[in-house]
Amino acid sequence: MKPRAYITRRLPQAAMDIVIAACDTTFWDNDAAPVPRDVLLRAVADVDGVLALLTDRIDAGLLDAAPRLKVVANMAVGYDNVDLPALTARGVLLTNTPGVLTETTADLVWALILATSRRIVEGHRLIAAGGWTTWSPMFMVGQDVHGATLGIVGAGRIGTAVARRAVGFGMPILYHNRHPSANLEAQIGAIPGASIRYAPTLEELLVAADVVVVMVPLTPETRGMFGAREFALMKPTSVFVNASRGPVVRERELIEALKRGRPWAAGLDVFEVEPIGADHPLLALPNVVAVPHIGSATVATRTGMATMAATNLVAVLTGQPPPNPVNQV
Ligand code: DGY
Repeated sequence: MKPRAYITRRLPQAAMDIVIAACDTTFWDNDAAPVPRDVLLRAVADVDGVLALLTDRIDAGLLDAAPRLKVVANMAVGYDNVDLPALTARGVLLTNTPGVLTETTADLVWALILATSRRIVEGHRLIAAGGWTTWSPMFMVGQDVHGATLGIVGAGRIGTAVARRAVGFGMPILYHNRHPSANLEAQIGAIPGASIRYAPTLEELLVAADVVVVMVPLTPETRGMFGAREFALMKPTSVFVNASRGPVVRERELIEALKRGRPWAAGLDVFEVEPIGADHPLLALPNVVAVPHIGSATVATRTGMATMAATNLVAVLTGQPPPNPVNQV
């Protein structure tokens, strides 16, 4: 008898095929909309494994509905959608997709740094609205990126990849992490002309950086890490970029801070509650560039994440160690 698996969204066929070859597979046959909660709870009743997305809440309620469950393979590196202690307590393995999305997400961070600093979206909107009448000396002036100090909060894989790219822009790098990162310092230190320094406190980083990039996971410690106090410490010319998780930032306080012009601009891939609608107050601010949680959204990377999640799922369900376990059970 094959193990039974449920996939919570239609995935690229290569990933579907990996699961279908090894398991009796059912799935939510929609690639755009999340599976409704009641459908999900019914669907997991007799499955051994679930391939889930960050839009699915994997909690005690789901575990109650899935008594046979052995593994949840999350198609994301972050797993704040999962109640990990609840899974571990019930002997359910969690896997994630680290590494595969690092470079793609770092590219998107850079798109946000450049778009905010050089007012790219604002300029496009201005032309489209017929607002470009002439060239003038201080028209649409932004902030220099080259030579600016980059402050990275969270020195994991993606923070490191963001830092590597900064060397090409001649940017001194400051980073804050719970502990100094030997890996980050070795990678940047090996590049001729690069400069990197550890900031033992977040405050030290915020007052010195021209560009602040947040790349921390969402945990009880990082929830609400950026609020009015932190924004007030930043330079009036600073750019703030968040491509980690929305709830790391107290959004209402960010909106007020942006209205006051400190930070000078923000580039956001993630939001407190996703998706946001057209009436979200952040979108009314000219100094915001917002994109819909697309850090890892390239064809190659999303396909890679899906096949990685599928491989993890099938490994556990066929008695092999999964390549990317998060917990031990
Ligand atoms: C992740 O993997 O955690 C990302 O947010 C998805 O792009």
